[in-house]
Amino acid sequence: MAAITDMVDLEIQDGVAVVRIDNPPVNALSRGVRDGLFQAVNQADADDAAKAILIICSGRTYIAGADIKEFGKPQEGTSIFDAQTAIENASKPVVSTIHGTALGGGLETALSCHYRVAVASAKFGLPEVHLGILPGAGGTQRLPRVVGVKNALEMMVSGKMVNAKFALANGLIDEIVDDLLEGGMAFAKKVAAEGRPLVKVREANEKLEDAKNDPDLFDRFRKAVSRKTRGFDAPEAIIQCVEDTLTKSFDEGIQAERERFNVLISGIKSEAQRYYFFAERQANKIPDVPRDTETIPINKVGMIGAGTMGGGISMNFLSKGIPVTIVESTQEALDRGLALVRKNYMRGIKSGRITKEGVDKLMGLLSPSLSLEDLADCDMVIEAVFENLDLKKEVFTKLDGIVKQGAILATNSSALDVNAIAAVTKRPEWVLGTHFFSPANIMRLLEIVRADKTSKPVLATAMGLAKKLGKIPVVSGVCPGFIGNRILFQRGIQAEKLIDEGAMPWEVDDVIYDFGFPMGPFAMGDLAGLDIGWDAESSRGDKILKDKLCELNRRGQKAGSGYYNYDPETRAKTPEPLVEELILELSKKAGITRREFSNEEILQRCIYPMINEGARILDEGISQRPSDIDVVWVNGYGWPTYRGGPMFYADTVGLDKVLAKLKEFQTQDNDDFWQPSPLIERLVAEGKGFKDMN
Ligand code: 3HC
Ligand code: NAI
Repeated sequence: MAAITDMVDLEIQDGVAVVRIDNPPVNALSRGVRDGLFQAVNQADADDAAKAILIICSGRTYIAGADIKEFGKPQEGTSIFDAQTAIENASKPVVSTIHGTALGGGLETALSCHYRVAVASAKFGLPEVHLGILPGAGGTQRLPRVVGVKNALEMMVSGKMVNAKFALANGLIDEIVDDLLEGGMAFAKKVAAEGRPLVKVREANEKLEDAKNDPDLFDRFRKAVSRKTRGFDAPEAIIQCVEDTLTKSFDEGIQAERERFNVLISGIKSEAQRYYFFAERQANKIPDVPRDTETIPINKVGMIGAGTMGGGISMNFLSKGIPVTIVESTQEALDRGLALVRKNYMRGIKSGRITKEGVDKLMGLLSPSLSLEDLADCDMVIEAVFENLDLKKEVFTKLDGIVKQGAILATNSSALDVNAIAAVTKRPEWVLGTHFFSPANIMRLLEIVRADKTSKPVLATAMGLAKKLGKIPVVSGVCPGFIGNRILFQRGIQAEKLIDEGAMPWEVDDVIYDFGFPMGPFAMGDLAGLDIGWDAESSRGDKILKDKLCELNRRGQKAGSGYYNYDPETRAKTPEPLVEELILELSKKAGITRREFSNEEILQRCIYPMINEGARILDEGISQRPSDIDVVWVNGYGWPTYRGGPMFYADTVGLDKVLAKLKEFQTQDNDDFWQPSPLIERLVAEGKGFKDMN
């Protein structure tokens, strides 16, 4: 075997030139891979001993894309285009044999081969859209020619992967093989022996025909994805590239693809999305808890409370085949909880995600109980009873006496003092917070709350478990509301102040929506229910708008009205004149002279307190790094990924500008709420940003 570069080898085996890529962990198309591919393919093409060329990867996956770490730097060595041209123009068949994930530039490399085979577990995708770019190595021009325009649009605009079955059915691969090397070799030999044509995707135009006869296809597609793609630039650029396949030559299409790629990659949105890609992976790392920290096997889980969260959290475990015993305080609550879990699973039958038998099987893993004693042999118990510290302490005191030693005890509290909860047990090192977000079976964010005494193996286990459940874990220290809700409270305070002082809820919501959130704070309040934490006895409708709305039974979407009125069928919202009247009345009573706010000021008043609180959270060591805060906000609260997260955004505005505004608002309002965090003062004095702390 000859080493072509430090990442690529070439060996002639039984008449096939095997080009092997080895660039762990994901065989990204780093310079050594591009150089190696180019040289190895040329060398193999010139070698008469080789009748065919097979491209294969070592390790866990085929090429998973361009090396994202090289983005933004001047490109060195062979370009991906030169490597692809060498492959496409080879005088003998070039076959890729694929395992793991063929993604981005990886799949684009495979598409420049004459043939592709894969093992049954392989997955394929062009996920560039998640990085704010488009497939820039011919993917937008080649994929539609292989799988058809509609499939290609769906794959590239969603960024989702397809499996080997789909790939085979749609011409993306030519065969499914049992063994990566042997199967690939056999296929390559067969193609050479049969003298099959050297298929160049660039010349294959048949699959474009359907789209040519369906001129509305692109506009229908744009409409269908508009809600999901709002604010992002890459989806529209991808659609335009695919449109080019129908009107331009392949080479012109490639040229236009390149131009659009260059615009996207130099923009702030792609920079934010690429930052976010690494931020999410960084969040997995805990500096003082090494990767090889021992973990505790979790084979049986206990759940306390079968309400909104208990049921949803249980579904995560059941779906992974982990049995759950769920304990409630009354039979009625237990029945209601189980019925809801079943109903949620049954929804998947319609879309074909699961069968009735599948639902029964999952429900069979869920054991209902009215006794905490049934949790004695669980490896982990998660408490999701009402948000009340005394109740939670009572539950943990009991659990401590019941559950076996060596089991993890977790609370799903969304804001309470996890140290105080741990302190009622004789094993605080086994206690931590696992703050799932609602709906817990869908939302991917999981705040792992590290209490003062939580042990490293317990923390490592929770992180590993989160990954197994498909969640995105972020570590938070203990403070009221942890990272996410603590920051949310600050935005909420200002949003309410804005309506006291001059804005209307819909004006505030529109600004936040236009910034890129799925909805503003008032629409969100209506969705969650305005009566959370409200009770009729202590209601202050004479002073507080939210209380007044609850008194009027305008308790949010579930009641048909709140800050807004909701259409019973479409759930479309419209502003309510009565709410406007109430707001004006309350301001008058409080002696406030209302004034107009510009959109810019509304935005700053809502977002800058979040940045300031994020900085305090960092200074107190509650968050490990600024990017963790961004991961929480992107995943848990709908912060637009193309703005990176509050801390990334602060850097793009300029921390000095944020600081100046905080001071201006402080003087104007004469309110300590605006007191700038010492961290922001320090960073500005040193000419640094949050990015320098990551
Ligand atoms: N470039 C550089 N590093 C990468 C990378 C890439 N394309 N893909 C993954 N990595 C790194 C990760 O940062 C991580 O590093 P770390 O261990 O230091 O944190 C390591 O590889 C392992 O990654 P994951 O933790 O994500 O591993 P998983 O096994 O969970 O997932 C994966 C593997 C599905 C390949 C996932 O990493 C992934 O989705 N990667 C990105 C794929 C992608 O976006 N490709 C397109 C790139 S853009 C492109 O190709 C442009 C072209 O069109 C010109
Ligand atoms: P919920 O009111 O829907 O459910 C709580 C359930 O606990 C009820 O069914 C109740 O009967 C049961 N329960 C009360 N005391 C019990 C006891 N001693 N033993 C057994 N069961 C008992 O509440 P929800 O929304 O599920 O919240 C649960 C926890 O999750 C709270 O701490 C909350 O702050 C937190 N949380 C809630 C989120 C949400 O959006 N609802 C989001 C994230 C966290």
